[in-house]
Amino acid sequence: MSHDFSPGSVWLVGAGPGDPDLLTRKAERLIAAADIVFYDALVGAGVLALIPEATEIVSVGKRSGRHSKDQLSINALLATAALAGKRVVRLKGGDPSIFGRSTEEIDHLAAHGIPVRICPGITAASAAAASGGASLTLRGLARKLTFVTAHARAGEALDLDWTALAAPDATLAVYMGRAAAAEVSRNLIAAGRAPDTPVMVAVNVSLPTERILRGRLSALAFLVETISDDDPSLLLIGEAIKPSPVGAADTQYRDVAASRTKRIGRYVMTVAMPPSAADALLPSCADQFEAMVDVAGKS
Ligand SMILES: C[S@@+](CC[C@H](N)C(=O)[O-])C[C@H]1O[C@@H](n2cnc3c(N)ncnc32)[C@H](O)[C@@H]1O
Repeated sequence: MSHDFSPGSVWLVGAGPGDPDLLTRKAERLIAAADIVFYDALVGAGVLALIPEATEIVSVGKRSGRHSKDQLSINALLATAALAGKRVVRLKGGDPSIFGRSTEEIDHLAAHGIPVRICPGITAASAAAASGGASLTLRGLARKLTFVTAHARAGEALDLDWTALAAPDATLAVYMGRAAAAEVSRNLIAAGRAPDTPVMVAVNVSLPTERILRGRLSALAFLVETISDDDPSLLLIGEAIKPSPVGAADTQYRDVAASRTKRIGRYVMTVAMPPSAADALLPSCADQFEAMVDVAGKS
């Protein structure tokens, strides 16, 4: 390994989704040979534990909305370490080539004449499908697989080609999609995707805190309600993602389509919560609504 990791060079290394058992053997060898490791916030604690004690480690912990270092500073840090003659590992969650801003780092290092190479990793979509016992493609039904990010700048709507994404034979792997789940669901359905398309939300994939939530596209916003900002989550959407007999122990099915409705005059009241909770709440909600309609003169 040392022959392809010379002093003054950089490897961009995929750390996989978190579980150190999902790291490639090559990644492990590069980590062991490095003089310095720069790592992202999503690199699992078990992977970081593999870094030898004598190795310098630097967190450049980028997390949505809370960047501890901006991309230009990270580029500069990598170049400075390599120009000082160190063997540099830049450890990135999942696969470096998927929403990992690798090209910016490669271009900056190349501009300084620094040799840089890439070691792939298991991306979150592959790990999520495995945990949920699903396949990302399905013969005859899911012929396309689209990796898409639903991360938009604060206050801006998502700028995605919803018509293309709504193709019925596509599986969508939506990275950074929790906050935009309602927008994703609304736009896909408006563009023609069936509301009952199976969806799976995989949280903290491959870690001890992993959770798999399943439901249908129309209920996606409801599905992600219990996920905190701090927990990475991935949305998988498409016919291939239907419930499977194989899969994570902690799988929940959440579906508002099964919620209750009540007709009040010319209004239909829909309660978007699990049926048991809806049954308990609906009578008092209906009373309050009827009172409001009375006050408003049943207009
Ligand atoms: C900046 S992207 C990086 C993706 C990474 N390069 C990969 O290939 O998985 C971060 C997003 O990846 C997804 N992600 C990464 N690790 C995850 C995990 N362990 N569980 C669920 N989603 C994960 C989440 O959507 C998260 O917001």
